Amino acid sequence: METNYLIEVNNLSKYFPIRRGVLRQVVGHVRAVDGVNFKIRRGETLGLVGESGCGKTTAGRCVVRAYQPTTGEILFHEDEDLTYNVKKLVVHARHHKDGISQGHMIDFAKLDSNSLRQYRHEIQMIFQDPFSSLNPRMTVLDIVAEPLVIYTGKRPRQLKEEVADLLRKVGLRPEHMNRYPNAFSGGQRQRIGIARALALHPKLIVCDEPVSALDVSVQAQVVNLLQDLQSQLNMAYLFIAHDLSVVQHISNRVAVMYLGKIVELAESKQLYQNPRHPYTEALLSAVPSTDPDVKRERIFLSGDVPNPANPPSGCAFHPRCHYAKDICKQEVPEWRETPEGHGVACHFADQLSLVGVH
Ligand SMILES: Nc1ncnc2c1ncn2[C@@H]1O[C@H](COP(=O)(O)OP(=O)(O)OP(=O)(O)O)[C@@H](O)[C@H]1O
Ligand SMILES: [Mg+2]
Repeated sequence: METNYLIEVNNLSKYFPIRRGVLRQVVGHVRAVDGVNFKIRRGETLGLVGESGCGKTTAGRCVVRAYQPTTGEILFHEDEDLTYNVKKLVVHARHHKDGISQGHMIDFAKLDSNSLRQYRHEIQMIFQDPFSSLNPRMTVLDIVAEPLVIYTGKRPRQLKEEVADLLRKVGLRPEHMNRYPNAFSGGQRQRIGIARALALHPKLIVCDEPVSALDVSVQAQVVNLLQDLQSQLNMAYLFIAHDLSVVQHISNRVAVMYLGKIVELAESKQLYQNPRHPYTEALLSAVPSTDPDVKRERIFLSGDVPNPANPPSGCAFHPRCHYAKDICKQEVPEWRETPEGHGVACHFADQLSLVGVH
């Protein structure tokens, strides 16, 4: 792994058991995430896009270890500015011959709950719904201070200075700290969630559709705030969204997910201008063009994302693909990558000339 990568996710899967009957026997598995690979550089934003049910949230929750992955590695690259506690953890992991792989990488997927507690601050998550993700009975001080309380053992009132600083960073006023979440608008609540995520100086924030629930006018403000904070604090983002228009301007690279798998991943400009997967083309056809003279046809995808407990044979996208041929029903397409790192899993990626956005 090149050293400028912060995190490398290899063959990540999360299967949820399906239980039936009085004995709750396992009769199958929902393959919510199924063999996903991606890397994120320091300070970079990787967009993760796909329709509802593709497995984006599950993938994000595995990365922050809210879920224990079924398979795979989540390698976190050690560097000099890793905090003291994580350094201790590296030693701990070596000592246990587990949770560490090749040189200076910690495998978060394998850490036990004790070690997890020590690293958790490195990766934080912000959520789609700022109305339900904040506890209505806690003051803003308690909410924002909570990760610091857990980490330092101090009481919230000993942390007022830190919380005031965090509130200023996200564009709120320190006197807001004594109020409860219901006194705030959606955009302000999302700012509180962001302040809380920043409290422990994470290197990576998984942003799970952080603006989808907000008014359009407020969305841009929150996206701008996230971008400003990123350049000040050199954090990386895994930015999850439903549609490609939201991530277009903030992502350095974009991964497109379909039914638990990444089907295309490229530098943003490449992906938008020269898509190689028919699913990406369909998602792009919904992105408004910046050139009013360019008229593009919207590609309507028929039907929903199939059930991940019983995925279609061959290429999982074939039942909805306009270009599908016999081989697509029979064989799973391999992942192929150009030397520039534009990867795709489609049998006909080199033969199709797909329409992008310019
Ligand atoms: N705890 C769970 N138990 C069983 N199945 C689950 C669980 N969580 C998610 N799933 C299933 O896994 C699949 C992926 O869900 P996930 O929430 O990760 O998708 P998503 O891409 O985030 O969708 P959305 O855009 O609607 O948020 C879905 O079929 C979902 O029903
Ligand atoms: Mg989701």
